[in-house]
Amino acid sequence: VEPASNNPWLYLRLAASIEEMIGRRLLRPGDRIPSVRRFSMEQRVSVPTALHAYAILETRGLIAARPRSGFYVSARSADSLSEPDPAVSLLKARALSPADPFESLTDNMARDLVPFGVALPSPALLPVGKLTRTMASIGRRLGPAAGDYDFAPGCLALRREVARRAAAAGCSLAAEDLIVTLGGTEAINLALRCTCEPGDTVVIESPTFFGIVRQLREMRLKALPIPVDSRTGICLDTLDRATRRTRVAACVLVPNFHNPIGFVMPDARKRELVRLLGGRGIPLIEDDVYGELQHEGPRPRCAKAFDPDGSVILCGSYSKTLSPGYRVGFLAAGRWHERALGLKKIQTLAGPTLPSLAVAEFLRNGGYDRHLRSFREACRRQVEETRAAICRYFPEGTRISRPSGGHLLWCELPGNVDSLELFREAAAAGISIAPGPVFSSDGGFRNFVRISCGHPWSSRLDQSLAVLGRLARKQARIPGAEQRREHPLRLHSAAGR
Ligand SMILES: Cc1ncc(COP(=O)(O)O)c(C=O)c1O
Repeated sequence: VEPASNNPWLYLRLAASIEEMIGRRLLRPGDRIPSVRRFSMEQRVSVPTALHAYAILETRGLIAARPRSGFYVSARSADSLSEPDPAVSLLKARALSPADPFESLTDNMARDLVPFGVALPSPALLPVGKLTRTMASIGRRLGPAAGDYDFAPGCLALRREVARRAAAAGCSLAAEDLIVTLGGTEAINLALRCTCEPGDTVVIESPTFFGIVRQLREMRLKALPIPVDSRTGICLDTLDRATRRTRVAACVLVPNFHNPIGFVMPDARKRELVRLLGGRGIPLIEDDVYGELQHEGPRPRCAKAFDPDGSVILCGSYSKTLSPGYRVGFLAAGRWHERALGLKKIQTLAGPTLPSLAVAEFLRNGGYDRHLRSFREACRRQVEETRAAICRYFPEGTRISRPSGGHLLWCELPGNVDSLELFREAAAAGISIAPGPVFSSDGGFRNFVRISCGHPWSSRLDQSLAVLGRLARKQARIPGAEQRREHPLRLHSAAGR
């Protein structure tokens, strides 16, 4: 009996088989593919099922219909590269292996490599000079008090500004709801420690920001990875099923301009997420460090905006927008506020006074908004240039995310490419990348890399992507990948860091 046309496994499998033929160049750009009717007969499926498979390929930009002529394989362009597949998850909570693949990535950060591996903007794009001058003038005004502790909950002027800005993300917060933290990292750390005990299970996205995986490992928490859709975020059906059968202590997500994929969860899904977790008594830890980096239009709302009772813990930071070295972040811990404050007092007691005051002043006097206007546009341009170059140089079959904010790209390379090997070869050629497995709790995403587009586009970056493309093609054993030795590439001093 032929399965029904709305059987997703069937049409997804059919779409995947054609996609594979395109990836292996058995079908090339411009080739005509069989008509829907012929394909349905060949595959012994109904016409609607075949049509469904073609619609998927069309949405992904892999094929295009020509009027009265049929379907053709699309020419490759940045816009026609399809997006990475959602990960398949085993839906089992696991203790994390003690090996930390991130270690070699941090080693590479310290070296002077072409910076595709580091999720940071170029200092040339940040208002470092203005912040330094603001800090100096505040320091002169305060005199010796500039050297004081900034006791938790931290700088009131900053908390007022953060609360004011939170309104644009749909959140109703007061200064009293906030704690100043040492970057987003400390905010996530406090949130996890408020809500979890060693041995507990925590839901994470698959893939997710490696800092989250590292914190779970360090706190002896188990990870329950849930696949994400590359456009709409965590799969709510799977989350629903998983949290019905496993006791989960918390859920840590990056719903806005996700690291590494770049999606934004639509508002309706954020609302549904908060409702689902709230109904099961599971706190949501929302990491929003990229939330203000939309490429155009208004800033996306936070899941916290849909939180009726303080069950969402919001973590933010100015590392990605102003200065990673100031270590200024914040935490709105909702129901766990008092506990978080107590932990913060034990953990770090206080923060540095001047950086918080400088950031507060920059937010207050409009400098931050002016900076964001040009910075967002720079991120958008850089992401576009990088996508186009990846399209020029990377092997056929490469898929790439389509972020609407931030400066990160997630690339799926052909299945036989080993990104850890690519990471080593690229480093030897003077280029850093972030290999897929660091974004996973179980060594997955072996053929994925994250490429950061935080630096102004240059011929140096273009050449480096050409080198990476050649290395990837060589691994994928695609004809035309020369066996030549790659020479180390170095970026020019400050602009290249
Ligand atoms: C999603 C995400 N959260 C948190 C952080 C850490 O931010 P911070 O440098 O403010 O500690 C990063 C840094 O890469 C990140 O990508």
